[in-house]
Amino acid sequence: MQFRPFNPPVRTLMGPGPSDVHPRILEAMSRPTIGHLDPAFVQMMEEVKALLQYAFQTKNELTMPVSAPGSAGMETCFANLVEPGDQVIVCQNGVFGGRMKENVERCGGSAIMVEDTWGEAIDPNKLEEALKANPEARIVAFVQAETSTGAQSDAETLVKLAHQYDCLTIVDAVTSLGGTPVKVDEWGIDAIYSGTQKCLSCTPGLSPVSFGERALEKIRNRKQKVQSWFMDLNLVMGYWGSRAKRAYHHTAPINALYGLHEALLMLKEEGLENAWQRHMNNHLALRARLEALGLTFIVKEADRLPQLNAVSIPAGVDDAEVRNRLLNEYNLEIGAGLGALAGKVWRIGLMGHASRAENILLCAGALETILSDLGADTGRVAPQAALEEALA
Ligand SMILES: Cc1ncc(COP(=O)(O)O)c(C=O)c1O
Repeated sequence: MQFRPFNPPVRTLMGPGPSDVHPRILEAMSRPTIGHLDPAFVQMMEEVKALLQYAFQTKNELTMPVSAPGSAGMETCFANLVEPGDQVIVCQNGVFGGRMKENVERCGGSAIMVEDTWGEAIDPNKLEEALKANPEARIVAFVQAETSTGAQSDAETLVKLAHQYDCLTIVDAVTSLGGTPVKVDEWGIDAIYSGTQKCLSCTPGLSPVSFGERALEKIRNRKQKVQSWFMDLNLVMGYWGSRAKRAYHHTAPINALYGLHEALLMLKEEGLENAWQRHMNNHLALRARLEALGLTFIVKEADRLPQLNAVSIPAGVDDAEVRNRLLNEYNLEIGAGLGALAGKVWRIGLMGHASRAENILLCAGALETILSDLGADTGRVAPQAALEEALA
């Protein structure tokens, strides 16, 4: 075997994540590495925390990035909040709710599952029934933006309900943060985690989290130590907490944090509301083109995530053949279906820096050519005007 430097092909990333990384962020990550307790770095960490508070719309002191991907943010929430014997209500409407169940059980808790159909939003009535039937439950966990299906749930309503029954909430905002509204303080979310590789336009590998006062109180009053040393917030806060007392916990991923800093700065420059609007406008433009190709969305309009467009694969069309041609001929990645939806849907992401007009043109044009080559029965092909009208 001959070893050479790795030069990846240049792709357009329109799958479920990672999504296109903005060049400004890649450039920031190539700046010189400095020590993780260097005063200049410590100052940058303060800015990352403040910018994350903006992204999450919170004043929570404990708002910081976990040094590992979204799954580690998920695990940080469960490992710190769930103690052996705790009952946790988990609402599941896709793949990632299933991972929450795993987390609860591995922390010694019992998961009470509230199941919804994949592709639909979580039904608040079902949650309320579960809350009534399980008065011992003290935590409700759910995924706001189910990346496996493209469905968005009403986080505000679900959190309000949980609080009425004296439950804390753990919310997965991996795909929502930066793409659709996430209002931690206004909605009263107690613990939340996200990822950097989706609507923040950053590289994968960090997981922003935020914990409110009620969650911290539960953590302070734990009867036993958090079973994970790395994720124990009491220890992590020795590094990410008060700047005056900052001490070594683990070696922070310095350059990755430069990237996150730049990504959050860009979000602040654009403005959160503008970012949400851009994701919505581009979703509408892509939708116009996909529907004109005869493709149908699997999620009903009111529950659709603008940043993750899940469409049914037309009958008789080979899923893998289309995705391979997109990759090999157009350098374009879209996502396959996950779990129960494998082979049935394509998941087309318009996340962060990938949510822009040129990507819509590339994806719709490439799909149009390939589907027509395959003789797929996709209905009427729309004129270019349909897209231009939607973009305007
Ligand atoms: C909703 C959701 N939760 C959790 C994760 C896990 O994040 P990561 O792959 O960064 O560990 C993902 C990743 O796609 C996700 O979409």
